[in-house]
Amino acid sequence: MSEHSNDPASSAGAGQREGTMSESAAEARGPGRLADETILAVGCGSPDGKTNNGLAAARAFLTEGARVCIVDREPGALEAARAVLLEETPEAETRLRTHVADVADETQLKEAADICAEAFGALTVLHYNVGIVVNGGVEELDVAGFRRALDINLTGAFAAMKHAVPHMRAAGRGSIIAVSSAGGLRWMGYDYPAYAASKAGLIELTNSVGMRYAREGIRANSIAPGLIETPLIHTSIVGHHGDAEEMLAARHAASPTGRMGAPEDVARAAVFLASPESAYVNATVLPVDGGLVHSSAAAR
Ligand SMILES: NC(=O)c1ccc[n+]([C@@H]2O[C@H](COP(=O)([O-])OP(=O)(O)OC[C@H]3O[C@@H](n4cnc5c(N)ncnc54)[C@H](O)[C@@H]3O)[C@@H](O)[C@H]2O)c1
Repeated sequence: MSEHSNDPASSAGAGQREGTMSESAAEARGPGRLADETILAVGCGSPDGKTNNGLAAARAFLTEGARVCIVDREPGALEAARAVLLEETPEAETRLRTHVADVADETQLKEAADICAEAFGALTVLHYNVGIVVNGGVEELDVAGFRRALDINLTGAFAAMKHAVPHMRAAGRGSIIAVSSAGGLRWMGYDYPAYAASKAGLIELTNSVGMRYAREGIRANSIAPGLIETPLIHTSIVGHHGDAEEMLAARHAASPTGRMGAPEDVARAAVFLASPESAYVNATVLPVDGGLVHSSAAAR
């Protein structure tokens, strides 16, 4: 698989783990809550350079001082994300890598994890953001479509965890963050049982891994975004509504806060779960939904 590599030997990774990063360098890049972290950010390309959940997460990770290896199936999405990130934060060039891999191919995922760990000297965080919306109710959707949702949203996450965990064990710690969905917890009004089932499975997969490795300092948690305003909804969700305008109005109105969430809302939760600030948070799911999963139709 192709990759874009920056100079690993000169990256902040090795020196920083040994505590040699200068104070001025740390100051120059801000608070650096993730300065000790190396993050494999899977599905964090941006097909058109617009801010989706993946780009927002990668941006937040870099801003907080992490070394980040972005993985995506689409080379164009990787290049677009890389261009945006480095235009915003040129100083992050040595802390950013991209790697093309399809999560349906375990070998490619293993390669991505191994290359990230080798290049930066460690792998301490896995952020699994890949998610495809497979629409269609139980009568309309064929079994192949159902399997595809499970393959990409759930089995891909399993494979990513499988190949990231050994690196975390080598580092003596780690945090796994799975981007699930409020749709994995509740009926969202959309008839997409394959997506819902895959996201529900992702939550318990993540909890199981968090429990298994808790004593080794490896935590695993899910984020359940609610109704988020990303480019994806204009292709995958709009069909559930009359048109884009109606979709946006309905999604804003459905939120207890009166607005859809932004990718940055989800990214801030990911930073928290990646950072030592969440050291005692394990095997749970964090809704980022403005209260949506707790709301009741009776309350509207
Ligand atoms: N937008 C929302 O309202 C919302 C709500 C809840 C959960 N989510 C979840 O947030 C995550 C990101 O959503 P988004 O709206 O930013 O979507 P997006 O489609 O913009 O981003 C997903 C990225 O994953 C990549 N990808 C897809 N299939 C892949 C594969 N097989 N291998 C590697 N990469 C692959 C895509 O190229 C894309 O860059 C998804 O898991 C989604 O389910 C979104």
